[in-house]
Amino acid sequence: MSTAVRFHDQHVDETGPSFRDDVIAGLGRSPKALSPKYFYDEQGSLLFESICRQPEYYLTRTEEGILAAAAEEIAALVGPESLLVELGSGASRKVRLLLEAMRPTRYLGVDISRDFLLQSTRRLAADYPWLEVHAAWADFSEHLRLPAGVEGRRVVAFFPGSSIGNFAPAEAEAFLAELRRALPRGSGVLIGVDLVKDHDLLEAAYNDAAGVTAAFNLNLLERMRRELGATVEPGNFRHRAFFDVEVSRIEMHLVSESRQAFIVDDHHFEFAPDETLHTENSYKYSREGFRALARRAGYRPDAAWCDAEGLFSVHYLSHD
Ligand SMILES: C[S@@+](CC[C@H](N)C(=O)[O-])C[C@H]1O[C@@H](n2cnc3c(N)ncnc32)[C@H](O)[C@@H]1O
Repeated sequence: MSTAVRFHDQHVDETGPSFRDDVIAGLGRSPKALSPKYFYDEQGSLLFESICRQPEYYLTRTEEGILAAAAEEIAALVGPESLLVELGSGASRKVRLLLEAMRPTRYLGVDISRDFLLQSTRRLAADYPWLEVHAAWADFSEHLRLPAGVEGRRVVAFFPGSSIGNFAPAEAEAFLAELRRALPRGSGVLIGVDLVKDHDLLEAAYNDAAGVTAAFNLNLLERMRRELGATVEPGNFRHRAFFDVEVSRIEMHLVSESRQAFIVDDHHFEFAPDETLHTENSYKYSREGFRALARRAGYRPDAAWCDAEGLFSVHYLSHD
């Protein structure tokens, strides 16, 4: 097998919303808000990798521990020769814990961060020469379809990192239902879901002492400067993340330090002191709460795994 990555460009959508349009719409709204998908330019992807290494960020190491321990069981559930599709594949690191046990025929990494996706999938192809590696530059919240030429009798959609938590529960249900419709019967979804826990632990994970999550959040403003010529000064904002018990979610914001104004592509925006730009939600579930959501989305929740401390869960959802 060649180590070249087959690249599928699904991002070209002349009529769809772009970073520029969404920034202008999001800053013009009250309260101001922007989708977390815009964190991920190349710099954002690198910063996310650094977040994963922070001691407070239990999510990555815990999910990796669960996947490593359950790899054989997961492989037995899925069977060999599947098409393994990773949504939001990032560094394509967690999937390495599954490949030897699962022995899929094909891997398709799907990510919005184009250059990072290409680098990661190239490394994967070089390290696993028996695997046919594809990369799709796509927005999974807009396009949920397999690129032409990437078929599989049985598809496993791998959605790690608790990225499902970025959707509100009703959106998560709709997203999973749409994903199910895109999968052939006999397929499944292997999904990482962060759990409700001690609030201090949760808040610490999004407020690491080294300030990496803060830099990741502020990179959104840097990206507006780099790509849109925005006159915003990132130094005039600070990072804020807290757990809202009522809705069981971490909220991330960029808080304005003072009254300020800036321009994005001829559009004028103002922030009052302490006014925020809401940049991310990360919903936390109970194991049963998530299984119920998956059932409503049309799946049969199959096996689920959890670490000994009950911090994180991984679920296999069958599409019978
Ligand atoms: C929280 S990170 C998880 C990365 C990796 N899967 C992990 O578990 O460590 C989210 C990943 O999804 C990608 N992503 C976020 N929103 C996306 C979207 N709407 N469409 C495609 N990729 C997206 C990001 O670029 C990033 O690589």
